[in-house]
Amino acid sequence: MKKDLATIKDLSSKEIEEIFALTDKLKKDKAKFSKVLSGKTLALVFQKPSNRTRVSFDVGMYQLGGNSVYLAPNEINLGVRESIEDVAKTLSRYVDGIVLRTFEHKNVLELAKFAAVPVINGLSDFSHPCQALADLYTIREKFKKLKGLSLAYVGDGNNVCHSLLFACAKCGLNMNVGSPKGFEPSGTVLSDAGEIAKKQNSSVRLFNTSVEAVKGADVVYTDVWTSMGQEEESAKRKEVFKVFQINKELLKSANKNALIMHCLPAHRGEEITAEVIDGPNSVVFDEAENRMHVQKAILIKLLR
Ligand code: CP
Ligand code: NVA
Repeated sequence: MKKDLATIKDLSSKEIEEIFALTDKLKKDKAKFSKVLSGKTLALVFQKPSNRTRVSFDVGMYQLGGNSVYLAPNEINLGVRESIEDVAKTLSRYVDGIVLRTFEHKNVLELAKFAAVPVINGLSDFSHPCQALADLYTIREKFKKLKGLSLAYVGDGNNVCHSLLFACAKCGLNMNVGSPKGFEPSGTVLSDAGEIAKKQNSSVRLFNTSVEAVKGADVVYTDVWTSMGQEEESAKRKEVFKVFQINKELLKSANKNALIMHCLPAHRGEEITAEVIDGPNSVVFDEAENRMHVQKAILIKLLR
């Protein structure tokens, strides 16, 4: 039966570990995997802009011997030019997998429901599972372990935060979220992740200040204050989030030499200062690179 990746919740802790183990092999011996997806094609259906997600899936497919077809927002025009159901059924006759970057998360679920091929969420307003998998893989590379580490996410309780909550819980990391009132992650995600974390002996905690959230953190993570699709709220958000910036002063409350992470794109001077994101503890470009390696493992698992 085909398997989709809509959220990290769809994956067991064991499946995540298997993805990471395969990623290790892919990084070690690129040539060995150069034909595993030969003859396979991936459709990239994007309703929002992208650098990392688009390029890493495109190049990743190429490195595995397959190829991809990029479909820009105005080409498929999902749900407007034709229904999601008809798009799913048509693309399933041509391709072996579909990556969807969209607004409403229910679009991912609907595409997955009607597609005969695996559907991978390349970011929805609710979640960004490929990002969180690459993030945890990066942390695992740097610390040589995951269980028992503490990650502090400071900023908007958005798609990236939701996926990190599930990923940290499944992998046994403690996660603290520091968000302004009214911009916290979804209550359902917090409680679901909390339940999963309990089973792994880890914790999920929510704060309304950044200082409390970063206390004791091994990793400090942030994302933009205004996500794609929220542009008209940008001025208001700049005001609300001002005190949630990752800067040198805030990092005094985290563990010494805490890793700095950001999914990118970043706005230096807003959610993070240039000296921090470009400083010695920042791993943002390893993180970006790992998007491709981890996604290659996901593609092998789902498409082969
Ligand atoms: N981090 C991330 O998904 O980047 P893009 O929006 O450039 O794909
Ligand atoms: N939260 C951001 C992530 C971009 C990769 C957005 O949705 O725009």
